[in-house]
Amino acid sequence: MAGTGILLVLFLFAHAAGNLKIFFGAGPFDHYAHWLRTIGSPLLPDQWYLWIQRTVLTAAVLGHVGAAPILARRARKARPVRYAHRPAVQASYAARTMRWGGVIILLFVVFHILDLTTGTVNPVGDPQHPYADVVADFAPHRWYVTLCYTLAIVAVGLHLRHGIFSAARTLGQQTARGERAWRAVALALSVLLVAGYLSVPFAVVTGLVK
Ligand code: HEM
Repeated sequence: MAGTGILLVLFLFAHAAGNLKIFFGAGPFDHYAHWLRTIGSPLLPDQWYLWIQRTVLTAAVLGHVGAAPILARRARKARPVRYAHRPAVQASYAARTMRWGGVIILLFVVFHILDLTTGTVNPVGDPQHPYADVVADFAPHRWYVTLCYTLAIVAVGLHLRHGIFSAARTLGQQTARGERAWRAVALALSVLLVAGYLSVPFAVVTGLVK
């Protein structure tokens, strides 16, 4: 869970940083999207890197989702007698929403690929001009699309907050001081990521990017 999660987190940060190129205008953003298809050239033919990344990410998602029931079973086995009284507020909101948060994120990724990769559900849907696709996507009258993205991105932030914290534990962090430090790191990284992602739709809605 921790290993595949770290891979996915690296992708999330690289993707958020790439999205910020939109603030440099249509030319630089479309050029960046084109570059994504030519990474590794001339060693690799066009799109090969992209397909390697897609394969690795898909394997990481499958591994990550597949590890969830295994870990849950292990946790139940570790304590076969159920708690007689389980306090309602036992873990943070982020920790309690991992499963459903994960499902929301998966559904969002499917919608997002149909929207901005294949262009199937995008009003412009031109893979050569992703800047135009993004601007059309978050036009003020399509407020429901911005709302879906916002909910999904907040779900990503909550998932990440708990995920980074648990990954640190899995990878050996055990002290109380380290726990406090990792809690703060997890919160700071999640807020940064959410702000980076949300800045794009809200820049379009407010007319900063057009
Ligand atoms: C407002 C926020 C976001 C914007 C504006 C955005 C924008 C884009 C764009 C333009 C593409 C197509 C790139 C291209 O092929 O030229 C893309 C692809 C993708 N995005 Fe996002 N994205 C956002 C949030 C997210 C989030 C939160 C996730 C994951 C949870 C995500 C996962 C992906 C994936 C998996 C792809 C497909 C990459 C591929 O073609 O292999 N995106 N995004």
